Amino acid sequence: MTDKLQAVRGTKDLLPANFRAHEYIIEVAKKNATLYGYEAMSTPIIEYSKVFNRTLGDSSDVVSKEMYSFLDKSNDEIALRPEFTAGIMRSFISNGLHHTLPLKFFSYGPVFRYDRPQSGRQRQFHQFNFEHLGGSGACTDAEIIKLAADILTDCGLNEEVELQINSLGCTESKKVYQEKIFTYFSQHQDKLSTDSIQRLTKNPLRILDSKDEQDKQIAQLAPLVADSYTREAQKYFEEVLTYLDLLKVKYTINPRLVRGLDYYCHTAFEFIAPKLGSQSTLIGGGRYDGLSTIMGGPAVAAVGFAGGIERFALMRDYNILRTRSVVVVPIGEESINASLSLANELRQNKIPTVVKIEGKVDKRLQYALNIAAKYIIFIGEEEILSNKYKIKDLDKHQESLLGFEEIVKLINASQL
Ligand code: HAM
Repeated sequence: MTDKLQAVRGTKDLLPANFRAHEYIIEVAKKNATLYGYEAMSTPIIEYSKVFNRTLGDSSDVVSKEMYSFLDKSNDEIALRPEFTAGIMRSFISNGLHHTLPLKFFSYGPVFRYDRPQSGRQRQFHQFNFEHLGGSGACTDAEIIKLAADILTDCGLNEEVELQINSLGCTESKKVYQEKIFTYFSQHQDKLSTDSIQRLTKNPLRILDSKDEQDKQIAQLAPLVADSYTREAQKYFEEVLTYLDLLKVKYTINPRLVRGLDYYCHTAFEFIAPKLGSQSTLIGGGRYDGLSTIMGGPAVAAVGFAGGIERFALMRDYNILRTRSVVVVPIGEESINASLSLANELRQNKIPTVVKIEGKVDKRLQYALNIAAKYIIFIGEEEILSNKYKIKDLDKHQESLLGFEEIVKLINASQL
């Protein structure tokens, strides 16, 4: 017996109802992109692995365990993108876009991470992503957080999410903090997981987002990053919070929020939906001023965020109706040609039309109901001779006998 073919573990087909929800969420993100002056752009799904390796952090989970990377036929090490930010920065550098700063980029598409699949966590998932390159100053951070909040509001989710925010401080504060945290975790080395012992020498900060229960307990008493802020870092964070107040964005300071990727500095934030359980972050982002230089580019202030479309889709039933259409049903073989011609004429008038030829008449009516059609038009010999068609409004259960022009008028007036 042959094995039944299945989708790869951790990937999901987007069947039409789900696809419509995804499209709706992307549409909301797109509209907000336009409102805030972001332009759509896209980078390839495949990049050289090195685009992500150092930038996201060798010791981050995404790089150390979750990257889909492989050698291609030229022996180049390629990765399926595990996020957008590093690829967009690569694009910014390789296209020499620094002369055109500031830049505001909006993107969306599939992203790949090899993690243990569960509800809200897939190996292929989809993100919408916003990056503001060349945007410095606390008001930029606040503005992009407000943009994320507006997307949640437009998706009807604002009541169910909480914005958590923290500052990771400037490079100097991060250095001091890294030393403190190294000392702290070194004292507990014997109790740390094997992964975290490795993180200790590579980047002890990453122990703070370990998923191991014992590591988590130890991390709870670790020093807070806030105790290592320089005066500038403290002032910057306070300014961000003041601007958030100005924009009427509610937030909770989470002093333990560090985010799982290495490139962040200053502001880090997440929008959390507690009802999603362990995979509850809908949107995550922050400032990453040092990323461009790590990648060999010019110094560029930058801030951005990404939202997980699957997690947005899990939050509510978007129940987006498919486009209403007209179903043309020939009654008898001799009216098939006339039906095809009528359907063609309707489509030329930009009216979505389906011809249903096969099956009994009641089955065809059922089909029209199944696809949420608005009208059904029956064509028999009589209709061909008279050039008048019986059109039934399936919502109002009304039938009329109309000529072609009148049909087009009726349908256009009802706005499918
Ligand atoms: P991230 O927090 O790794 O950030 O991912 C952003 C969002 O993607 C998460 O909040 C979550 O909704 C979704 N997500 C992440 N992993 C999965 C998964 N395995 N399955 C389903 N959804 C998932 C970033 O990717 C950064 N690049 C965000 C950013 C942009 N920072 C600055 N600019």
